[in-house]
Amino acid sequence: MQGLLLRSLLFVPGNSEKMLQKALQARADALIPDLEDSVPKDEKVTARNLVSKMLPSLRNNTPKKVQIIPRVNSFYTQWFEDDLKAVLQPGISAVTIGKVESAEEMKEIIKAVAEKEKEASLPSNSVKIIPWLETAKGIVYAREICACGSRLAAVAFGAEDFTADMKLERTMSGQEFSLARNWISIVARASQLVALDSPWPHFRDLNGLKEDCRVAKVMGFKGKFAIHPGNIDIINEEFSPSQKEVELAKQIVEAFEAAKKAGRGSTSVNGAMVDEPVYRRAKAVLEQENLIKN
Ligand code: GLV
Ligand code: MG
Repeated sequence: MQGLLLRSLLFVPGNSEKMLQKALQARADALIPDLEDSVPKDEKVTARNLVSKMLPSLRNNTPKKVQIIPRVNSFYTQWFEDDLKAVLQPGISAVTIGKVESAEEMKEIIKAVAEKEKEASLPSNSVKIIPWLETAKGIVYAREICACGSRLAAVAFGAEDFTADMKLERTMSGQEFSLARNWISIVARASQLVALDSPWPHFRDLNGLKEDCRVAKVMGFKGKFAIHPGNIDIINEEFSPSQKEVELAKQIVEAFEAAKKAGRGSTSVNGAMVDEPVYRRAKAVLEQENLIKN
């Protein structure tokens, strides 16, 4: 899924047919029918059956570009296998799974996905996996987990579970998980994975949401989960390059390529140095813009 647009990923509780229908109207880059923490224990099986039944219509009623990525219950739960079996259907580009804590666990998950993919007669290696690293152990073993190979497409940081596991109060600023969050974005990059950020819990506080997106973007996250459709437009905007950024990137690319042709290794734009890394950053902005436009 490298090169795919995953700015906004909308969670929808898997036990709510109404919310699953409503999610179709949000302009999220991905829909995440959830079987994990938004579903109470005694509704797990009902939710699984509902999501399984609704996946074809979710697929048929969303543009092809929108990813459908169900979240299954974590590996050591009694629901994991049956969840996986229920959601591995045509049109599912990935599954996401919480609380992954070791490379051994990740490998078992990869094995289970490969098996169920085969049983469902889906093309081999077509369903990617997005693990959530959201416990102290998950953060510590992030490098080993993220190095588990080409089944992984992205990695998510989960602030709710992380603060719960650490027995911390979750604050508005998120300073208590700043190091863990930043670490995930660095490990993701080192493993060629897209880093995805935890949802903003105060979904009616849109200024807070904007600020939270900006902090995540500065750290290197490429997108963010959401728990409310009303948060999607802001997330899309915050994780898209602004007009000003695109204009500047174009100027930089043009100036650097002209300098290179003239046999120079650097130049300047608007009084600031432009060399190879600045050029590469500008190219990345234009690539992201291209992905959004096409
Ligand atoms: C999401 O799953 C979180 O724990 O924040
Ligand atoms: Mg979580």
